[in-house]
Amino acid sequence: MTNVLIIGANGSLARVAIDLFLKETDAQLTLYLRNSRRLRNVDTNRVRVIEGDVMDLEKLKEAMIGQDVVYANLAGNLEQMAKTIVDAMDDTDVKRLIWVSSMGIYNEVPGESHGSILNPYRKSAAVIEASDLDYTILRPGWFTNKDEIDYETTQKGEPFKGHDVSRKSIADLIVKLAVTPGLEVRSSLGVNKPE
Ligand SMILES: NC(=O)c1ccc[n+]([C@@H]2O[C@H](COP(=O)([O-])OP(=O)(O)OC[C@H]3O[C@@H](n4cnc5c(N)ncnc54)[C@H](OP(=O)(O)O)[C@@H]3O)[C@@H](O)[C@H]2O)c1
Repeated sequence: MTNVLIIGANGSLARVAIDLFLKETDAQLTLYLRNSRRLRNVDTNRVRVIEGDVMDLEKLKEAMIGQDVVYANLAGNLEQMAKTIVDAMDDTDVKRLIWVSSMGIYNEVPGESHGSILNPYRKSAAVIEASDLDYTILRPGWFTNKDEIDYETTQKGEPFKGHDVSRKSIADLIVKLAVTPGLEVRSSLGVNKPE
């Protein structure tokens, strides 16, 4: 049984991933978010809820205790968020991190240039890649709400394929990464719907 800490648990992608974790695995989830009233129908046998800000290092460290996997689903000051998470994981000896980023951070999307809007994504990926954590960075295309699991991945250094991908597909990959030891460790994966 895997213990998974989900940071930013009210995010649009995290909510789809939480449903899939509960349906497809026996993982125990700890949901870390700023406002717990936003969560509905929480199964208290499988799910623990911690209200907190990701910038609160001490609270984050408490939440890390006993976790096998950290899945970060955040937006905002991502560089500082990544630094705080890496520090908290180092201090509590938790190694496995799944970090949701975006396509375009390495200028890997043919014919598209995303400019400075992706700087927080680039800087946070650099923080994680410089750590000694067992990370997997995900670089999905545009999210869709399609009820389908249909995706392929590309490695860092390869051109990104496609354009969009369903939240359910990314969630499927997140769940597989979380419950499969060693899968795509120290990788940065583009995630897209095959064309
Ligand atoms: N939408 C797309 O097509 C697309 C494509 C590629 C990549 N992405 C990126 O993928 C990531 C995940 O997407 P998403 O749609 O799930 O994002 P989202 O719905 O915006 O969720 C981000 C979460 O981060 C939380 N958060 C922000 N600051 C925080 C803090 N200081 N402490 C704790 N939590 C904090 C927010 O919490 P609150 O609920 O408290 O505000 C929110 O729930 C984002 O970075 C997004 O930009 C999106």
